[in-house]
Amino acid sequence: MTDHGAQTAAGIRSVLETFSHTPKAHVQSFGCQLNFCDGEKYKGILQDLGYVLTDTPEDADVILFNACAVRAHAESRVIGRLGALKPIYEKNPRLVVGLCGCMAEEEEVRTLLRKSYPFVKLILGAGAMERLPESLLKVYQGEKRHETLQFAGLPDESLPTVRESGFQASVPVMYGCNNFCTYCIVPYVRGRERSRASAEILKEIEELAASGVSEVMLLGQNVNSYGRGCEGELCFSQLLKEVEKIDGIRRIRFMTSHPKDLSDELIEVMASSEKICDHLHLPVQSGSSRILKLMNRCYSREQYLELVGRLKAAMPDLSLTTDIIVGFPGETEEDIEETISLVEEVKYDNAFTFIYSPRSGTPAAKMPRVMSEEETQKGFDRLLKTVQDCARERVQRFEGRISEALVEGMNEHDASMVTGRLANNLLVHFKGDASMIGSYRRVRLAENKGFYYIGEEV
Ligand code: 5AD
Ligand code: SF4
Repeated sequence: MTDHGAQTAAGIRSVLETFSHTPKAHVQSFGCQLNFCDGEKYKGILQDLGYVLTDTPEDADVILFNACAVRAHAESRVIGRLGALKPIYEKNPRLVVGLCGCMAEEEEVRTLLRKSYPFVKLILGAGAMERLPESLLKVYQGEKRHETLQFAGLPDESLPTVRESGFQASVPVMYGCNNFCTYCIVPYVRGRERSRASAEILKEIEELAASGVSEVMLLGQNVNSYGRGCEGELCFSQLLKEVEKIDGIRRIRFMTSHPKDLSDELIEVMASSEKICDHLHLPVQSGSSRILKLMNRCYSREQYLELVGRLKAAMPDLSLTTDIIVGFPGETEEDIEETISLVEEVKYDNAFTFIYSPRSGTPAAKMPRVMSEEETQKGFDRLLKTVQDCARERVQRFEGRISEALVEGMNEHDASMVTGRLANNLLVHFKGDASMIGSYRRVRLAENKGFYYIGEEV
């Protein structure tokens, strides 16, 4: 810690000493896995400063919402939840409510908070995580509102982290995005691509493995361009090969892959690896080449299908999942039909489908829309049905197989069952108890329930 950091921490501790109760902090993350990963760091910082973490905002002295900017609907929900904190603030005027993450980077959001949410005192942009103590101290010293925005570097490697799980961990390998898909706000709120040093990533994973973590998820907006522009640095497939060598790591996952950057080398590394899971999330966004061009995705329908063909040839059992947007400006019913036919052709194991949400500042927000809301919804519903039919059909192929499941937790509906995840990401529920959590079990996939299995340990 720098001298300045130590002084700031001491300043906050002396404020907390004046509290007549144990100071508590509540951090809630929304959105993608990267945001959840950041959330674990916010928790780590607050815990180090002397707060006890709490799941209930009502008894907290600091409440941080770490929110996502990707779609407007989710943002309005966060604004609603912020509004609901007002009575808690009125009871405890020393409460510090903060908004952080991608959503805090948006000028429109900040303007709204300044105008209508005076009790939101701390605004911390994505990528300004290590400034949390400083901002907090400023608020404790009487500043009405402290706003810190993005800086283009990498988060401090020494930031503390409070991990949710003792056996699964997410590890960011890069931050930001250079792709500028025309609908997407991420490059504006997260900045340009920055890759962490591979030595730091490998050290972190070695430490995780030593502490009992056996499954890691490498995260980035576009992991396939990991290391690009960093002289002497590994590329993503080389990084995976190094992670593979770490004792104690049994499963390696990664997200997200941009189809335009997925190399043959990566396919080879995946196909020959014992540890890389046979699941790939490969967002297609649309099945119409015309729309893909308007989206600036840099591949056509044909190129995507050709890539899927190569992947399936190398890994016949690979589970494929994707993201799809419906209602993009200029999209017509024919374009949606093309997306539906692509889904049928690829036969995804699952797909996340979204209705297009205009984000101010992105090029697509200025493009005219062709379909009405009603037509978009109808297209969305048709697509969703196709996705679900495909997923059901795909799940069927595993019936009767014996597979290894990592037990993630107790079944939420039946206390005599546990829930495990297969390497291909499929969930299986089977008889068990809490002592099995974190262990690997061989399970027969006995009964197909549509999107998951009921299994029996063998
Ligand atoms: N509207 C709807 N969906 C979006 N996504 C990104 N930006 C938008 C937007 N403006 C979706 C994409 C991406 C996923 C994380 O979110 O499908 O892959
Ligand atoms: Fe957004 Fe495209 Fe970057 Fe993904 S690749 S974060 S969709 S701009």
